[in-house]
Amino acid sequence: MNSKKKLHIETYGCQMNFSDSEIVMSVLADTYEYTSDIKSADLILINTCSIRDNAEARIWNRLREVRSLKKRNKSLKIGIIGCMAERLKEEWLEKEPSIDLVVGPDAYRDLPKLLQTVADGENAINTILSEEETYADILPVRYNSNGISAFISIMRGCQNFCSYCVVPYTRGKERSRDPKSIVNEAQQLFNDGYREITLLGQNVNSFLWNENEEEVHFWDLMAMVAKINPLLRIRFATSHPKDLSNELIQIITRFPNICKSIHLPVQSGSNNMLKKMNRKYTREWYLDRIAEIKKQIPDCSLSTDIIAGFCDETEQDHQDTLNMMREVGYEAAFMFKYSTRPGTLAHTKFEDNVPEDLKIKRLQEIINLQQELSLISNKKDLGKTMEVMIEGFSKRSKEHQFGRNSQNKVTVFPKTNLEKGTYVQVKITECSAATLKGFVVE
Ligand code: 5AD
Ligand code: SF4
Repeated sequence: MNSKKKLHIETYGCQMNFSDSEIVMSVLADTYEYTSDIKSADLILINTCSIRDNAEARIWNRLREVRSLKKRNKSLKIGIIGCMAERLKEEWLEKEPSIDLVVGPDAYRDLPKLLQTVADGENAINTILSEEETYADILPVRYNSNGISAFISIMRGCQNFCSYCVVPYTRGKERSRDPKSIVNEAQQLFNDGYREITLLGQNVNSFLWNENEEEVHFWDLMAMVAKINPLLRIRFATSHPKDLSNELIQIITRFPNICKSIHLPVQSGSNNMLKKMNRKYTREWYLDRIAEIKKQIPDCSLSTDIIAGFCDETEQDHQDTLNMMREVGYEAAFMFKYSTRPGTLAHTKFEDNVPEDLKIKRLQEIINLQQELSLISNKKDLGKTMEVMIEGFSKRSKEHQFGRNSQNKVTVFPKTNLEKGTYVQVKITECSAATLKGFVVE
């Protein structure tokens, strides 16, 4: 008989958070099993994000819905974990009576003990940040997986202190995980049928591990994971441009199973803004990195993050971002309007002085331009035949399967009798800004 309690975990924010939720499931696996049905849960954990104001607003709204479940189920417990737990700490328990538990990103090992306190009728909190914790020995429970793609967290924290960003305060100092444990996890995933692994961290390029006076850099780690099997695809996120080395570019060219796709957040195309953001590179330096990538990996796709309307941003700064986007020709972008985050350098030192309507206008111009650039890039693929790994059936039609190519572009094609995880050659015949369409060539 199954006597485990039911845990419903909801995750917001970045891939790091999704990866952390799998660690939390593993830490609690002796007592709890996952349920997707929130109404049947004994414990609800909300893994939160603080990166932008609207990310937090979404969670407050969700909490209003979730806490009403306590009226029907008196023994239900609710916990806040992740970045908002770290940022607001005790405030949660003071402001929100429905919350029983608050746990920051470095304290997940403590969850069983904290839940015991909750079971004894008291609130529990642990938001202590660690300089060592990497959860290296915890094998994540992939409770929401497609069985094909998985994330492996290779480092935690960030100490770049970009002036707009809350991450160094919610996730603490940068620390890398023992590469042996990473390779073992990747090997295990491959043995279990997984065919795509994304190595995750806030700034993967500065991964560094010292073993017997020998240094393992990110590019060494990439090679170690790529060698597991040619059928295992490797991706990585996120990179800071200042640390994107020629060695990494070389490794990407050497292994066909390392995907030809780099996410390189630029944030702004204006040197004034980059300086104010404390990004530690200039527009020229960034463009030099892009030139090197294009020279060494001509078929590499490039994606980015952009912030519109940072403090003191002028029309000229904004135009510099737009022409930077044109110059690079990004395949995809995550685009945001600036929102001030309490505790950051920008919050204490600068005025959030670009009016809201102007931020919205600039963001819209950036989004419109990216649509054009994505369409231009996809049109270049018409007529080409490319390798796609099948990920499943299209959400829109049971008659179609979909997957992604090495460049991370979603590709849809009439269904085959091949399983997900299989590589197929697809000839591209149609496209939109978001998707490629084609058919599998025999
Ligand atoms: N306001 C808007 N966007 C932000 N980002 C980080 N902090 C902020 C903020 N305060 C964006 C950056 C980052 C991405 C994850 O979120 O573009 O790369
Ligand atoms: Fe959000 Fe950053 Fe925390 Fe990820 S690390 S959940 S993006 S605040």
